[in-house]
Formats: sequence, C-alpha cells, structure tokens
Amino acid sequence: MSYLDESRSCLAALQQKEHLRILAIESSCDETAAAVVEDGRKILSNAVFTQIDLHALYGGVVPEIASRAHVEKVDRMVDQALSDAGMRLADVDAIAVTYGPGLVGALLTGVSCGKALAYAAKKTLIPVNHIEGHICANFLTDPDLEPPFACLVVSGGHSHLFLVEDYGVYKIIGQTQDDAAGEAFDKAARVLNIPYPGGPLLDKLAEQGNPHALKLPRPKTEGKYDYSFSGLKTAFINAVHNARQKGETLCDADLAASFRHAVVSFLVDKAMLAADDLNLKKMALAGGVSANQLLRREMEAACKKQGIQLFMPKLSLCGDNAAMIASAGYYRLRRGEIADLSLNARPALRLQSK
Ligand code: KG4
Ligand code: ZN
Repeated sequence: MSYLDESRSCLAALQQKEHLRILAIESSCDETAAAVVEDGRKILSNAVFTQIDLHALYGGVVPEIASRAHVEKVDRMVDQALSDAGMRLADVDAIAVTYGPGLVGALLTGVSCGKALAYAAKKTLIPVNHIEGHICANFLTDPDLEPPFACLVVSGGHSHLFLVEDYGVYKIIGQTQDDAAGEAFDKAARVLNIPYPGGPLLDKLAEQGNPHALKLPRPKTEGKYDYSFSGLKTAFINAVHNARQKGETLCDADLAASFRHAVVSFLVDKAMLAADDLNLKKMALAGGVSANQLLRREMEAACKKQGIQLFMPKLSLCGDNAAMIASAGYYRLRRGEIADLSLNARPALRLQSK
C-alpha cells in the first residue's frame, strides 16, 4: 500500500481517537522548533532554537545561513521535543509541519524532516500554514477560545486582519498593502542603530520615550481595513536623517516611542473600526509583533471600551514556535487535511480566504 493510501486508511480511526498527540516541526524563518501538543490545546513540550545570534552580525536573516542552521538543528529539536514530552516517535499520532509561507530553503528542511519521520514511523503527515499556526497560538493560551473571532496577525512578514469564521475557515478583512508591521519596526530600529531583530529592543527603548516628540503621517489605504507601513517607515527614516544632517540632537527613546505609537495606533484603530462595523465580539492578536507592549496595552483598552473580549498569546508563544503548528495541525487532521510524500515547500503560500 502506498504511504498516502495507508494514511487515508488510518484517518477515520485517528479522527475518532479520544486524545491526539501531534509532533510538529517549524522552520520557516530563523527559528528551528519542534513541539508535542495534545488535542490542539495542551503543550507537552515546546523546543525552540533561535538563530538570532547567527544573523545579528548581518543585520537581518541571511537565507543561506538560516537553511544550514535548520539542517544542523532540526533533528536535535525533534529529539528534545519528544524527550521533554516523555515520548518516543512511535507514541505520537501524527506529524505536522510548516510548509509555507517563509524562506524556501528554511521551509524545505522542516518539510523534508517531517516527511522522513512520517514515512519511517508510518505516521500521518499534516501540512500547516505558518500564519494559521500564529492564529492557533491563542488556542494554546486560552482553552475557552472558540471561533468565530477576529484575529490581527502581525509578524515580520505579514499584517492581516482575519475573520476566523470556524476552525480552518478564514476570511481576510484587511491586509497590508506593502510592508509588514514587524518589518517596519525592524527597519526603523536599524536607523536608530538598534541591532537585529530591532522590534523587541525598539519596544523596550520606547517605554522611556515621549510618543508625541515626532509627528508622523497616518498612511492612506485603498481598503477601509487595510494597512500600509512603507510610507510611515520612510517618513520616520527621512525625519531622523534630516535632523542628523542639520545637527539636531533627537532622543532615541523619543524617536522609538513616536514610531511605535504611530504603528500601534494605526493597527488598533483599523482593527477597532472593523470590529465596530462588523459587530465583532471577540478579537485576538497573533504573530511576533503581538509581543509589543504598547500594542497589548492599547488593544486591551480599546477592546474594553468597545465591549470586545480580547485574546492574546502568552509572550512565549507570540514568536515562531512549533506548538502553534501542532495546534493548527490538530484542527487540520480533524478536518481530514493530510499530505502525502510529495508535499513541497510553498514560500508564498496564502491563508485561503473563503
Ligand atoms: O512571527 P515572527 O516571530 O516571525 C515571522 O513570522 O515573521 O515575527 C517576527 C517579527 C520581527 O519583525 C520582530 O522584530 C517583531 O516580530 N517583534 C516585535 C516585537 N517582538 C517581535 N515588534 C515590535 N515589538 C515587539 N515587542
Ligand atoms: Zn511567524
């Protein structure tokens, strides 16, 4: 029997099983991660190796270095996730793997590892979209969260406002027309000589600054709930360069605070506008930028004011990890979405809008 025929024949039994323990692998960018999660909600282990130190020297992620580091680390992370969960490969019910979006070489490492393990151990393989994983980080934080809810996904590569209508049913309400919010934070940080990855350090520095020191424009967008960060980033960089050329001394904390305030108020205002128009009652945050302290505070205040229930991933689950991939994989398996060994990396994979 072929691998896929065998997987299909096991599917019904797996779907009826009371408890499902899924091993997941994540390698879409600069984190090599593996985790075991039970029933999409309970983390049994969550091993993450971050490559930050390897890329810091170059001021950003170097795809070739990322791929090599994933190759070196992926087996070890899988071993660690299994041993931390007190399990052997034979004990897991299925293997979920991120197959996109992300860096092609980085994704290929995880996909190849997932396929090899699934084939060798005769396990069902589940293909997972990285963005969907970020959304599912909320299921790991809050056991009571159920769709429908809106989710603002803000990461290094994406800024989307989704309506999660049901498990696996996503509708894009708004999205960035150009740069992602995380990318804008990283570029703004670079002009302040903050080392990579700039977002978290800019956030920290901004806590001591005056958010109204530098006035930045509010970007215009075509769609009512869309975002745009490219103009904001350029306006910020130009303002800093102009001031430096004139010999003016600007306080870095004030600059960081002003930029953070501009990005966050834009993110929050649009999300709240959508919530109001569409009568949304539950809102979630996801992605690396959801760790931003001001975004968390402002969303909390805005949701409270509008009577919306807010869900935010634990800080340890905001960035890339494999537990969120296992959670997304669980709901995909429940829906019968499995892969065969022809699964390939899909760098530009989109989260289907229905
Ligand atoms: O989700 P993520 O870990 O990777 C992608 O899928 O892209 O997001 C990484 C991004 C980076 O741009 C990083 O600077 C940003 O999230 N980030 C932050 C903060 N923590 C991470 N940006 C602003 N404030 C933070 N606290
Ligand atoms: Zn991510």
